[in-house]
Amino acid sequence: MKQIAHRAATILPAIALTLALGASCTLVPGASPTPTATATAIATSAAAVAQGKQLYDANCAACHGPDGEGGITVGSATSANLRAPDLDQVYKSDDALIRRAILDGQDQDGEALDPAMPRWRGKLTDTQVNDIIAYLKTLR
Ligand code: HEC
Repeated sequence: MKQIAHRAATILPAIALTLALGASCTLVPGASPTPTATATAIATSAAAVAQGKQLYDANCAACHGPDGEGGITVGSATSANLRAPDLDQVYKSDDALIRRAILDGQDQDGEALDPAMPRWRGKLTDTQVNDIIAYLKTLR
């Protein structure tokens, strides 16, 4: 009797440990994709597009044209066409790269854009940049 009780005392913690490890293993794969998915998602609601148009008209249209057509000379550079087909082609439809171009002035390969293109980090919030991108996606 004494021996059985002793054996149970060593087996039970082992079972508890196995269950705990099993539980943590099944939790990890489900937990990681969520933050990356939300970090790059662009809200494309009508409200976001309307907000993006206002921000574009106020901050970008002077150099990129009223409809995002670009082709305007700024210093020694020519402003880029920001309409959806052009931008999607250059940035391979990667919203994270488009956001980086706007915030940090880096092209699709990470090279610096001409200094004539302002760096918007600190001047526009993430939400504002997302709204502008949502608007640019409506331009053809
Ligand atoms: C003072 C003029 C100016 C303003 C204001 C400006 N841009 Fe630009 N932008 C440029 C120029 C010039 C280029 C091209 C840079 C180059 O060729 O290296 C450019 C390039 C870009 C690019 C890269 C496009 C590509 O094909 O690689 C994006 C994206 C962009 N601008 C978005 C914006 C957005 C969004 C705003 C407003 C928040 C804005 N720009 C405001 C001048 C401007």
